[in-house]
Amino acid sequence: MNPQERIKQLNEKAKDLKAQEIIKLAWDQFGQRVNFASSLGEEDQVITDIISKIAPKIEIFTLDTGRLFPETYDLIAKTQKRYPMLFKIYYPDTKAVEEMVKAKGINFFYESVENRKLCCGIRKVEPLRRALTNVDAWMTGLRREQAVTRTNLEIFEWDEVNQKIKINPLINWTLDQVRQYIKENKVDVNPLHAKGFVSIGCSPCTRAIKPGEDIRAGRWWWEQPDQKECGLHNNPKWKKKS
Ligand code: ADX
Ligand code: SF4
Repeated sequence: MNPQERIKQLNEKAKDLKAQEIIKLAWDQFGQRVNFASSLGEEDQVITDIISKIAPKIEIFTLDTGRLFPETYDLIAKTQKRYPMLFKIYYPDTKAVEEMVKAKGINFFYESVENRKLCCGIRKVEPLRRALTNVDAWMTGLRREQAVTRTNLEIFEWDEVNQKIKINPLINWTLDQVRQYIKENKVDVNPLHAKGFVSIGCSPCTRAIKPGEDIRAGRWWWEQPDQKECGLHNNPKWKKKS
């Protein structure tokens, strides 16, 4: 069966399932050939907790860009200690980072979208490619309501860039549902959330938001909302409106 047909069948099966059942379905379908990308965000911590209860053999990985917040590193350590799953950390290619910083400067990403995408490419997108080498599918904490670039997400979809199946078990969850799960299950979260950070990425590219602001307003705040994807999630169905 080609991947597109498989995805269609899986979406048919998954359409009325709860996130827990979707994760179980992913494990039943792919076994060790599915892994989970965690940035330690609230959604990701929910998925990590569910995986520990439902399919603890699913491997988790984080892309350490080298520019994360100290609080995020503390949460990685806490999460590794709390859960039994294998939690791998991938790093960018040292030589590529050295050359980029030498040519462009340490904080050159503020200067243009092109520069910013170059940095994300070296620090996140290339390590992601390596993290996905031995799997057929990867899971993410993406939700539809997070951004204009994410409204067309599906539970199972084809990741054209990486030629893998991508699984988004929380697509229909609201932020309130995520926070309810966290409260009920005493899930550990980044202390920065309590200081107004909602979506958290690299420290130089993330800031706190004010009440009522868009939840991704603090990410790459100097760019337009329709530019705010770092290359991990390029959704071909989403087209920029002119
Ligand atoms: S981003 O593309 O803008 O950085 P976002 O922070 O919203 O993504 O996270 C969406 C999902 O992408 C996360 O739920 C997680 O699955 C994955 N992700 C993002 N950043 C990382 C990271 N550094 N390491 C692993 N997975 C990540
Ligand atoms: Fe570089 Fe900022 Fe992208 Fe992190 S989010 S990889 S620091 S441009």
